[in-house]
Parts: sequence; structure tokens; C-alpha cells
Amino acid sequence: MPFFLIAIDGPAASGKSSVSRRLAARLNCACVNSGSLYRAATWGVLQAGVDPADPEAVATAVSALRLDSETVDGSLQIRVNGLDPEAYLRDPAVAASVSKVSSVPAVREILTGILRSLGSSSSLIMEGRDIGTVVFPATPFKFYIDASESVRLQRRHAQGEADSLVSRDRQDSTRRTAPLRIAEDAKVIDSTHLGLDEVVSQVVDHLRHQGLSVPE
Ligand code: CDP
Repeated sequence: MPFFLIAIDGPAASGKSSVSRRLAARLNCACVNSGSLYRAATWGVLQAGVDPADPEAVATAVSALRLDSETVDGSLQIRVNGLDPEAYLRDPAVAASVSKVSSVPAVREILTGILRSLGSSSSLIMEGRDIGTVVFPATPFKFYIDASESVRLQRRHAQGEADSLVSRDRQDSTRRTAPLRIAEDAKVIDSTHLGLDEVVSQVVDHLRHQGLSVPE
């Protein structure tokens, strides 16, 4: 199998993670949820007692964090100052602050560097907000998965998670650095009325059309 990087972007609860995991199993490659890294940095900021609404303090705090990331058994493993933040990444406090922290340009510079290095040695699928536009702009394999706001709210609710999804989307789309937007060369899939199988099959069809061989 040749080297490939697949970028999957879209708003919160559009189905990116489920599609990425399914696709990674088919392609036998790692699947990196870049949002986890932004959430981990946010957790580190909150742990340090820093106000997430103070961009300068956030930039200083994130530069001082030791953020280690590697793919283990096909998914991203993160350490923040040596600690595993996994259990805290979906906390409402993290969800409420992550868009503020990720709007700080210095934070994006550091995290983009980490994400790029993950994709420098092995093929992978990466999902997020700016993967096709900023992290891996040169890859030909780009998708933007969308869904109506009401369906996304229902999906997140069904996951039993308290999430400030609407406000995160607004902040993520309007920030100055690397806002959520559709890359010009991305294949857009609206999953509002589609099940997971249908979205995955549209992604696979498109990848095959682009010349990437995807096993059944
Ligand atoms: O799971 P969901 O799509 O709701 O969110 P996530 O992927 O865990 O991302 C959490 C937050 O991280 C987003 O709301 C963005 O503020 C930020 N993020 C980002 O700025 N850039 C990325 N490439 C990925 C996430």
C-alpha cells in the first residue's frame, strides 16, 4: 500500500470520528483525532489554573506543557506532563474552554507541528477542523463531513454528553487563525440523512475514484 494521508474535517458531532475509525480499520492504518490534542492542551491549561480566556497566559501555559503524542495500536496516545489526560478530555469544563484555547495562534503553531510529525512517518487518517486546509494541505485525500445543527445536537445528546457544541462551532468557524472551513479540493458529504455505512461507502467510492485501493 503506498503512503497516504487522509484528512477528514467538519463541525462537532458530524460523524467524523466514527467514519475515521471505520475507514482506518479498512485501510489498516492509524486514526488520529486531532481534537483530542486540543482538548488535552486545554486540560493542561485548566490544571495550571490559567484563565482560558486570556490568550497570552494560554500561549505561555501551552508552551510550558510537555505534550507527548504517538500512535499506539492505531490511535493517538497523549501525555500531558507525563500524565494520561484521556479520562478528562470530554469533561464539560474542557468542552467549554477548548475553542478559546484553540483560537490562540501560538497554541495552533505548537499543535500543528505535533500533528504534522505524526503524519511524517506512517500513513494515517486524521480528523479535525483544519486538517485539509492547514495541517496537510498537500494531500489529495480530503473530506468535509457536515450535518444539520439539529441532527448534530441529537447525536451528541444520544452519546450522553453535555457539550457546548453550538458555541464551539461558532467560535471554531469565526476565529482568525485556521478557522473551520471547507478546503477547495475537499469532497463534501452531508450526513444529515445518511447512516454511518452510507457515509463510509461514499468516502470509499471517492478514494477509489482517486486511485487509492481500499480493501472490502
Ligand atoms: O468531537 P468534536 O468534533 O465535537 O470535537 P473535537 O474533534 O474533539 O474538537 C474539540 C475542539 O478542538 C474543537 O471544537 C476545536 O475548537 C478544536 N480543534 C481545532 O481547533 N482544530 C482541530 N484540528 C481539531 C480540533
